[in-house]
Amino acid sequence: MPATATSDKSDKSDVDISQFDLMNLPDDFVPNAYSYFSRLRSESPVHPNSDGSFVLTRYDDLVAAYRDPKIWSSAKKAEFEPKFGNSALFEHHTTSLVFMDPPDHTRIRKLFQAAFTRKALAALEPRVHELVDRYLDELEDRRRMEVVADFSFKLPVEIVCDMLGVPSSDRLLIRDWALLILGALEPVLTQEQFDAGCQAVDDFKAYLRDRIKERRANPEGGGEGEILTALMEAEEDGLKLTEIELLHQCIFLLNAGHETSTNMISHGVHEMLRHPDEIAKLREDPELIEGAVEEILRFQAPIQINNRKALKDTDLSGVPMKAGSQVHLMIGAANHDPAHFPDPERFDITRRPNRHLSFGLGVHICAGNSLARIEGKIAFGKLFARFPTLRLDAPAKLSNRVRFREVTELEVSI
Ligand code: HEM
Repeated sequence: MPATATSDKSDKSDVDISQFDLMNLPDDFVPNAYSYFSRLRSESPVHPNSDGSFVLTRYDDLVAAYRDPKIWSSAKKAEFEPKFGNSALFEHHTTSLVFMDPPDHTRIRKLFQAAFTRKALAALEPRVHELVDRYLDELEDRRRMEVVADFSFKLPVEIVCDMLGVPSSDRLLIRDWALLILGALEPVLTQEQFDAGCQAVDDFKAYLRDRIKERRANPEGGGEGEILTALMEAEEDGLKLTEIELLHQCIFLLNAGHETSTNMISHGVHEMLRHPDEIAKLREDPELIEGAVEEILRFQAPIQINNRKALKDTDLSGVPMKAGSQVHLMIGAANHDPAHFPDPERFDITRRPNRHLSFGLGVHICAGNSLARIEGKIAFGKLFARFPTLRLDAPAKLSNRVRFREVTELEVSI
């Protein structure tokens, strides 16, 4: 059953917050997430779950964990081994840079960064303009649209496929593989899902091997903004990505680069339409677009949870933790922490400063954050300029997923 509306309806003051358990969430959690976070932040900011892990909701505790990879590890080999065994899913999820620690992470991130240059991003910008114009042209004669299918889903997948030289005709294939591979990260996994996830990794690898072979045979054949050659050739201290590393970073990029941005765009349209005064401000001063993107990202973080594991005995906000403790970094909660964001439930595109944590922080900070910001700026800027009478037909519908804050349906009149 999808949850409806993205705004909290109740302050949850009647809830016994000491019983909160991320492993067994109340049915009304998603539509009331920020109310639960508010109670946790003030009453139990380092909150124990039934499985011994902790939920962190204060901004300063998230920053402490993000900033210290020597204590707070991202590596998942120990957790994934019993779950995935020696399988294709294990290989993928432990070779992606997001689940690695320094020094391996440092090496791969540097090689990766070589492909994400300002020049590469600048080359993608005209393509983002062209695509957004095309989608809006298609909507010109329509009276209504469903924002997720008609607008926000289209742009990010198209752009990330351009980056890796994947032809348009194969984009749905990529989406299906991505769902099966990411779906395998859900806490409970059936044998069927496991087998499908492993098959998806194998098929995806074979597919990318062919694209890489084609690019090697024809190095000049890539379109504007393609970074596949740069990733293949990236070299640091005489080292390059191995073939397996290259394949898994490409798979990760294709997965990481679309669902997140899709949700940023869907939430952004919803929040702006719920706050017509903010649209009016933007219309009066289009320069406010950058602030609008930041506030959209703060207000509804597309990724709500990052995870870390303590490598040694430590503490957070005075709560002692043993080596091996798992923590859940609740990004949505930190982004609404009144200690850093005055009046945090107010949506305000002129908010300054706005150092939200939607892209994480520290060594793993989102490698695609500049690209996501470019996508947001162009998508929102053009949409609200071109359709000034856009209005909500119904509140957004959210899925019940907790790690991704996902809009499944958003009906608007044009
Ligand atoms: C609004 C859109 C996006 C959001 C909210 C987002 C969020 C995040 C977050 C929170 C992390 C940190 C994970 C951690 O510390 O454990 C991350 C990492 C990453 N993101 Fe994004 N992301 C977005 C878009 C993108 C795009 C468009 C790309 C690429 C095309 C991308 C590529 C990556 C990569 C490669 C990493 C791993 C970095 C590392 O581990 O060093 N992301 N993202």
